[in-house]
Amino acid sequence: MTPHILPHASGPLAGAFTAPGDKSISHRAVLLALLADGPCRAAGWLDCADTRSSLAAAQALGAATGLQGDVVTVTPPAALPVGPILIDCGNSGTTARLLMGVLAGRLPVDGPVVTLTGDDSLRRRPMARVVDPLRRMGADLRYAGAEGRLPVVVRGAPLSGANHELAVASAQVASALLLAGLGAAGRTLVRGAAGARDHTERLLRDLGVAVDEDAIGSAVNGPCRLAAFSLTVPGDPSSAAFFQVAAALVPGSRVTSRGQSLNPTRIGALRVLERAGAVVTLEPAGKAAAGTGGEPRGDVEVRAGQLRAFTIDGAEMPSLVDEIPVLAVLATQCAGRSVISGAAELRVKESDRLALLARNLRRLGATVDERADGLVIDGPCSLRGGPTCAPLVLETAGDHRIAMAMAVATLCTNGETALDDGACVGVSFPGFFNVMDRLLAGGDPARP
Ligand code: S3P
Repeated sequence: MTPHILPHASGPLAGAFTAPGDKSISHRAVLLALLADGPCRAAGWLDCADTRSSLAAAQALGAATGLQGDVVTVTPPAALPVGPILIDCGNSGTTARLLMGVLAGRLPVDGPVVTLTGDDSLRRRPMARVVDPLRRMGADLRYAGAEGRLPVVVRGAPLSGANHELAVASAQVASALLLAGLGAAGRTLVRGAAGARDHTERLLRDLGVAVDEDAIGSAVNGPCRLAAFSLTVPGDPSSAAFFQVAAALVPGSRVTSRGQSLNPTRIGALRVLERAGAVVTLEPAGKAAAGTGGEPRGDVEVRAGQLRAFTIDGAEMPSLVDEIPVLAVLATQCAGRSVISGAAELRVKESDRLALLARNLRRLGATVDERADGLVIDGPCSLRGGPTCAPLVLETAGDHRIAMAMAVATLCTNGETALDDGACVGVSFPGFFNVMDRLLAGGDPARP
C-alpha cells in the first residue's frame, strides 16, 4: 500500500463543517428497521464501510434497501430467506454485536441458520460479552471457531427476559440485549451500562416502546414489535472531534460543527477540550422534536486557547471512548502531565489503541508512558516527522480512528509524516481529508 502523505497546517483552521451522520445511530436505523412493521427511512445517514456492513446484513436477511444521497430506506422482509445465511460484518463491531441481539430475538425456531463473521480485526474482538448474556435468555448461539470470537452461528430459539449486570459499560452489549428483549417473553433488564451511549433507548422510546430507565439500568417488556419510523441522523460527535481538537491545537483556529449530536452520553470530548483550555460554545437547536430519534442536536464552536494538562478516568470513558486517540494527541501539546486511565477497553477496539498510540506518539517525539489501562503523557513536546524525501510513516493497523488522530498530530509536527494506510478512514469518515483541507484553507486567506 502506498503511504498517504499528511497535510500540515500553514495557519489556523477556520470555517464551518457538517460532520457526517452519527455512526451509532446510522447502524441502529438499519438494524432496528429489521424489527419494524413497515418501511423505515433515515436521512443524514452515514454512508461508510461500517454502516454498509449493516445495510448488507439487512439485505442478506431479505430486507429491501435503498440509498439515495444520504437517505437510506429499509423495508423489513415479509419472510426470511430459506437456507443458511452468511453475513460478513466486515470491520464493524456494532453490526456484529447488535445483530446477534436482533437475530436471537427474531429468528423463528425452524428458520434459517445465520452465521456472522468479520474481517481479521473483528474476528479477534471479544464476543462472549454479548453471547453469554444472550444464552442466559435462551438464545442458541455457537462459536464456529475459537471460543469467544466470530464466526458465531445463530439459530432461532424461544427467549425469556432476564436481569443482566454488565461487566463492561458497553452500549453495544446493552443494545443487543434490549433488542433481543423485544422478542423475549417478559422483562429484560440491563444494568451496568450507565453513562454509555443511549441511542437505542432514545429511539425505542421515540417509537412508543415503554423503556423503563433509572440511574443504573434500562428495561423493556417483550414480546413487542416496532412501528415503522422516519428519522434524521445528527452529525457524529466522534467524527467532529478530530477537527475540534485540531482547532484547539493550532493557534488562532476557530471551527464550527453544524447540526451535531449533543447527546450528553457522547460529548465527553468537548468537556475535556474545555478543561484543557479550548473555548467551547454549544448552541443547542432546541427541544428534540419528532423525527429526531429523541436525540438533541446543535452547533458547536471551538476556538484555540492556552492548553493545560487534563485527566480522564473510567467514569468518563463511555462518553468519549472513541475520542481517546485524538485526545491523546491533544495531551502532547498541553502543559503538564495528562493522565488517561480506566481505558483498558481500548485494547479490544479495531486495534490495540493504547499500544498503537504510544508507539506512534513516541516515534513523533512525545513523552508517553503506556499503562495497562491508559496513557500518561507529558507536554508540551515538539513533534517531528522525517525529511521530505523520507516521511515518517505512522502505523494504523487499518484502524480508522488511529489514522485520523495521526492526521491531527501532523498539524503540529515539524517535518513530513505519512500513514501506512490512508484509505482506512473510509471505515467511518470517507470525506475526512476533504473536510480537513477545507478547514485548513479556510484559515488562510491566500489559499482557495
Ligand atoms: C458503539 C459503542 C461503543 C463505541 C463504538 C460504537 C455503539 O463501543 O466504541 O464505536 O454504537 O453502540 P462499546 O459498546 O464496545 O463501548
